[in-house]
Amino acid sequence: MVKKTTLLYTGKAKQVFATEDPDVLWMAYTNQATALNGEKKAQIDHKGELNRAISTLLFKELSAAGIPTHYIDSPDATTMIVKKATMLPLEVVVRNYASGHFVTKFNVKPMMKLDPPIHEYYYKSDELGDPFMNEAQIFALHEATPEQLREVRSLTDRINAYLTKRFNEVGITLVDFKLEYGTLKDGTLVLADELSPDNFRLVDQQTGASLDKDVFRQNRGPLTPVYQEVLNRLQEKGAAHV
Ligand SMILES: Nc1ncnc2c1ncn2[C@@H]1O[C@H](COP(=O)(O)OP(=O)(O)OP(=O)(O)O)[C@@H](O)[C@H]1O
Ligand SMILES: [Mg+2]
Repeated sequence: MVKKTTLLYTGKAKQVFATEDPDVLWMAYTNQATALNGEKKAQIDHKGELNRAISTLLFKELSAAGIPTHYIDSPDATTMIVKKATMLPLEVVVRNYASGHFVTKFNVKPMMKLDPPIHEYYYKSDELGDPFMNEAQIFALHEATPEQLREVRSLTDRINAYLTKRFNEVGITLVDFKLEYGTLKDGTLVLADELSPDNFRLVDQQTGASLDKDVFRQNRGPLTPVYQEVLNRLQEKGAAHV
């Protein structure tokens, strides 16, 4: 049984604790929701456990599909035990359809299909507002090596293919999403952080309704039933057909 020790970091959505094992972290998923780079904040009952549950389900499936991840275990409703990684300071964003900033930046129709899907990189820095980075900037600032970025691209494409199909099977379109990667002590690149509707844009194919944090960002009603719906659909129809 893993035991948490000191609190290392309180983020916007999770608290990260050390454990008795220096290579293992304890992540507590909290009920805090933020938007607009932290300007808008709220406590949302059950968000932590719903995000932990959705993340657990997807990490397990991606691991089974051969994607290296930081996931170890989920010992209680809000906790995930993970392999400690040195994080690449990058947010890797994948866009399958136009939405959010992409729509305003290029003045295109919302939900225009983006083929091939777009990969974008943002430098993880709250202070700087997570600025966009291209590959040359990543290499010049030594945020990742060319080999690491090649691996990030290839893993990200595989993850996108898996998740697009998985959500499609349950009547949900995966519009865009954000991933984070890190390296383990032995250098292995792993998918880290979380896989939840806080970081995915999801649209119900029947109704066109948002099934993600846009509901909170745009004050479109309570968030908990929406996240519960995503979890229910993924649980009701397992990964067997993917
Ligand atoms: N396996 C891992 N090992 C080490 N750190 C991790 C791992 N997985 C995720 N992290 C980091 O732990 C933190 C999780 O907290 P949270 O998601 O709440 O942060 P945040 O407020 O989004 O802040 P940040 O801007 O740093 O992501 C993030 O900084 C994330 O990059
Ligand atoms: Mg985060």
